[in-house]
Amino acid sequence: MAPVPISNINIGHIDDVQELRRTKPKTVPQRFVRDMTERPTFQTSLSLPNTNMPVIDFSKLSKGSKEELLNELYKLSTACEEWGFFQVINHEIDLNLMENIEEMSKEFFMLPLEEKQKYPMAPGTVQGYGQAFVFSEDQKLDWCNMFALGIEPHYVRNPNLWPKKPERLSETIELYSRNIRKLCQNLLKYIALGLNLEEDVFEKMFGEVVQAIRMNYYPTCSRPDLVLGLSPHSDGSALTVLQQAKGSPVGLQILKDNTWVPIEPIPNALVINIGDTIEVLTNRKYKSVEHRAVAHEEKDRLSIVTFYAPNYEIELGPMQEFVDEKHPCKYRRYNHGEYSKHYVTNKLQGKRTLDFAKMEIIK
Ligand code: OGA
Ligand code: NI
Repeated sequence: MAPVPISNINIGHIDDVQELRRTKPKTVPQRFVRDMTERPTFQTSLSLPNTNMPVIDFSKLSKGSKEELLNELYKLSTACEEWGFFQVINHEIDLNLMENIEEMSKEFFMLPLEEKQKYPMAPGTVQGYGQAFVFSEDQKLDWCNMFALGIEPHYVRNPNLWPKKPERLSETIELYSRNIRKLCQNLLKYIALGLNLEEDVFEKMFGEVVQAIRMNYYPTCSRPDLVLGLSPHSDGSALTVLQQAKGSPVGLQILKDNTWVPIEPIPNALVINIGDTIEVLTNRKYKSVEHRAVAHEEKDRLSIVTFYAPNYEIELGPMQEFVDEKHPCKYRRYNHGEYSKHYVTNKLQGKRTLDFAKMEIIK
């Protein structure tokens, strides 16, 4: 999420989705109506949530017996390899803190538009309030309002965008982010162990990590069958941590075996997914799985998403442990800052962004 303002792009007028909802509750403007092929089909929105999505008990990793640790590491590595997604329970993040950030984020979204617009997301940037990843006037829009901030290192912060209302939101974001950072560090340690690597390999490689937070608020929609809450994409991070607010309907879907599978939230759990960085480093042993969000007719939905990524200075490519005759090298080496810039200056389009790093031969 490098801050890279782009001038000279014409993205046209972007309706604020909450305002649309408030003033014209039955209307879905054309710019939100997806082409037939992109719409969440009847079948996918009705199919049963897949209850087999792996659940990792973090306490078994952090303080389990040797046997529990080994079992859970095995579950974790299978989850990463077969799903690219898992939910963590007993993650040691204070539940009050999770509740606080949820409530304050909701309060933020409920503020009058002019208050939220004090923190505008400039066209082509990804921090502030608005819609990210919009680059042209004819691009379809997501049924979502976003508020995003760069967190670490401090030089990615834009202090003007840190909200003054609700009063304690900014300090709560700070505290929450520190806790989530610790969880990411630990998860990467266990992911490394599950791959038979030194536990601190990613920490050493990543340098001073880049961390960002994004709150996605999905208002109710009179025609959820026509729109998408968030376009299909993979995450440009190493790991992503997603908290779904209490009472949120099912909204996140992941593309598994060519089918959109809805993810049923487990109360108090966090959803973790593998991002593009880990896909590249493991030479696609672990994949950053494509996902999207859908809107709901009766219930609004809030998610709080943390992106955890290497420093922009870092050069990345598949690690030698994952390249051999049977597994030819699938990605070139590249600078992660350049990848981040590429990611945030292109619209979300499934896994297309990662073509940036592909070896010519397999594009
Ligand atoms: C994201 C994301 C899904 C959701 O912000 O990258 O995938 O359910 N969000 O909000
Ligand atoms: Ni995502």
